[in-house]
Amino acid sequence: MAYENIRLEIEDAIAVLTIDRPKALNALNSKTFHEIESALNSLPPTVRALIVTGGGDKAFVAGADIAEMVSIGAAQAREFSALGHRVMQQLEQLSIPTIAAVNGFALGGGCELALACDLIYASEKAKLGVPEVTLGVIPGFGGTQRLARLVGKMRAKELLFTGERVDAAKAKEIGLVLEVLPADQLLAHCKTVAGKLLKNGPLAVAQAKRIVEFGADQDLRAANELERQGFAVLFGSEDQKEGMKAFLEKRPAAFSGK
Ligand code: CAA
Repeated sequence: MAYENIRLEIEDAIAVLTIDRPKALNALNSKTFHEIESALNSLPPTVRALIVTGGGDKAFVAGADIAEMVSIGAAQAREFSALGHRVMQQLEQLSIPTIAAVNGFALGGGCELALACDLIYASEKAKLGVPEVTLGVIPGFGGTQRLARLVGKMRAKELLFTGERVDAAKAKEIGLVLEVLPADQLLAHCKTVAGKLLKNGPLAVAQAKRIVEFGADQDLRAANELERQGFAVLFGSEDQKEGMKAFLEKRPAAFSGK
């Protein structure tokens, strides 16, 4: 399918989704959200990891599209926010691991997009932040909640109240990104990480993702019950038999995802 504001490239089991509106620093307008939604819906089952990055050499995503939002009222803002939330949730709930390759500015909605991914790596050029208060608003795509859950309430409040950007090194220090890479090595690093995940049982990786995501907001007993169920379910899979047999036979496992 032809997209205007994004690119979806699939190389074997790894898909790379590039938000590609460099003229507007890849800002997220409604059309871009709809394109992301349809790209995520179109991922074939052979894809086992997704990398999200930004087109051009300056930005991952510089936020929600301010030009689209400037003159809307509360009802339209609610719809726009609902659209953003839906797409972020769709990304977060994909059964495959997702990796944000933050190659430049990840501000506002761009930071929120990275936060909806499972793993975040940044280039040395990256700048992250939630500057919405400088525009008289707050993040509208889940950023207040995902940021606080990732870096803690007080750090999140500092970023949300000041609207200040942090560089990649500071982002790593506060746990907002995992690693900082030279710009020209970022994508290759993300593909290497994806490659490592691909060697493992896909059903097990999907369960691990689901249980961390759903368990994180529950009390420990309920969350541990999710783990018990997920653990048991995997013993009904061919992958569990294959993985354990392969270990005992001292050979690499050939997982089928069944
Ligand atoms: N929306 C729309 N257009 C944007 C944009 C955005 N979020 N960010 C950048 N652009 C556009 C600029 O308007 C400019 O367009 P023109 O060339 O047509 O003038 C072009 O991208 C290049 O931007 P700059 O000239 O500003 O580039 P710069 O290098 O001087 O600055 C920047 C880069 C610091 C990222 C700056 O562009 C900036 O501050 N952008 C806005 C960041 C922001 O506030 N993001 C939060 C948006 S609100 C939000 O996201 C709410 C939500 O959660 C729902």
